[in-house]
Amino acid sequence: MSTERTATLSVDGKTVEFPVMVGTHGQDVIDIRTLGGKTGLFTYDSGFLSTASCKSKITFIDGDKGELLYRGYPIEQLADKCNFLEVAYLLKNGELPNAEQKVNFETTIKQHTMLHDQMTKFYSGFRRDAHPMAVMVGVVGALSAFYHDAMDFSDAEHRSISINRLIAKLPTIVAMAYKYNKGEPFMYPRNDLDYTANFMHMMFGTPCERYEPNPVLVRALDVIFTLHADHEQNASTSTVRLAGSSGANPFACISAGIACLWGPAHGGANEACLQMLEEIGDVSRVGEYIKRAKDKNDSFKLMGFGHRVYKNFDPRAKLMGTVCAEVLGELGLENDRLFKLAKELEKIALEDEYFVEKKLYPNVDFYSGIVQKALGIPTSMFTCIFALARTVGWITQWEEMITDPEYKIGRPRQLYIGAARRDVPELAQRQ
Ligand code: SDX
Repeated sequence: MSTERTATLSVDGKTVEFPVMVGTHGQDVIDIRTLGGKTGLFTYDSGFLSTASCKSKITFIDGDKGELLYRGYPIEQLADKCNFLEVAYLLKNGELPNAEQKVNFETTIKQHTMLHDQMTKFYSGFRRDAHPMAVMVGVVGALSAFYHDAMDFSDAEHRSISINRLIAKLPTIVAMAYKYNKGEPFMYPRNDLDYTANFMHMMFGTPCERYEPNPVLVRALDVIFTLHADHEQNASTSTVRLAGSSGANPFACISAGIACLWGPAHGGANEACLQMLEEIGDVSRVGEYIKRAKDKNDSFKLMGFGHRVYKNFDPRAKLMGTVCAEVLGELGLENDRLFKLAKELEKIALEDEYFVEKKLYPNVDFYSGIVQKALGIPTSMFTCIFALARTVGWITQWEEMITDPEYKIGRPRQLYIGAARRDVPELAQRQ
């Protein structure tokens, strides 16, 4: 990273210079860490539209080109040539595993898939119809009450054990939330199955008969995990980093990330998108909803459309559309009503000047709900699947943050626009 260039700011008759930092790809950044000391001024950037919160080597998005790289590798190639655990290894370690490393990592993860049996009691504290994301926030946060034998995070081995525990246990926790909601018995992990096949076993298997996952559907879900694994400094990842910057344990940080992801503007959009498609119901009503999405006085937004960074297409949406078609084909659902409706909605929206002018394209959430529904995953579980996969990215970003020699506790400032200083009136004088 070089800083040959400088940016000059002239304010209140003073001129100050700041170094411009140049990365590998993407926008250069002005290092304004000394702005307050040099000028007494702060920057204002609500929503962080023009703010780089950190330096990172993990993921890069080119919003104009519609490019997503994990450790430099294009998402299209990773989705095609690797499985999710290989991608998890890549994100965590910076390089793809060789054959031996791949086997060793898979074996390590398999050894951590079970939960402390006492943790199963947490589920019975929830109503059966509790939203599974509420369960996830609670149970993942509770991991720190059980796995505190490796909590010295200055120790790389302790970090690695906690990271592996999270990667291994999230599928078990998600599947148990689903089983609890359904009133079915929890299924223990099967070590004879690979990561995603084991997840499907824990989700859809029962003690009454041996469950044999469909390899086409397993591969499809595995690709879905890869597409959701990481995505730069999005809202939930920034939440994890900020929580971790105080020294909070990684289990609590991931629980905070899950809570943030739940929002419909973020990871909750896949659930909201399917609900929207169900509400639209028929192609004949698409125009009515496109009109609503364009109406400034209507808060309705086309769920699964738009993105802060992608101003062309979201490469994940394209890949998700392909996976969706493969799954529907495998299941004989090519004429799935919602899939056909989604394709028509996408076509109409992309031809509408409002969406073209505002550069609104389908994002990762647009098709993911349809394919997950076809896989038998209920709508309320869609964001849990997102959280399962994104845990790999979150925990990798957490480790990058706490091992950064420059890291400090995150503490943004503000522009105060409240009441000017005043004295407290006696009770009798208050209006
Ligand atoms: C994810 O950040 C990430 O990387 C997130 C994510 C990840 O992998 O972590 O990619 C996952 O969260 C994907 C996004 C899922 N959310 C949705 O699909 C919800 C619908 N989308 C919108 O809420 C919105 O597009 C956001 C939240 C995704 C992005 O919002 P921005 O960047 O703050 O953009 P904006 O809301 O300021 O929109 C710009 C304009 C606005 O109009 P004007 O005020 O300029 O007139 O576009 C309009 C918006 O009203 N607009 C939409 C729209 N999205 C934006 N209008 C109709 N429908 C939409 N979906």
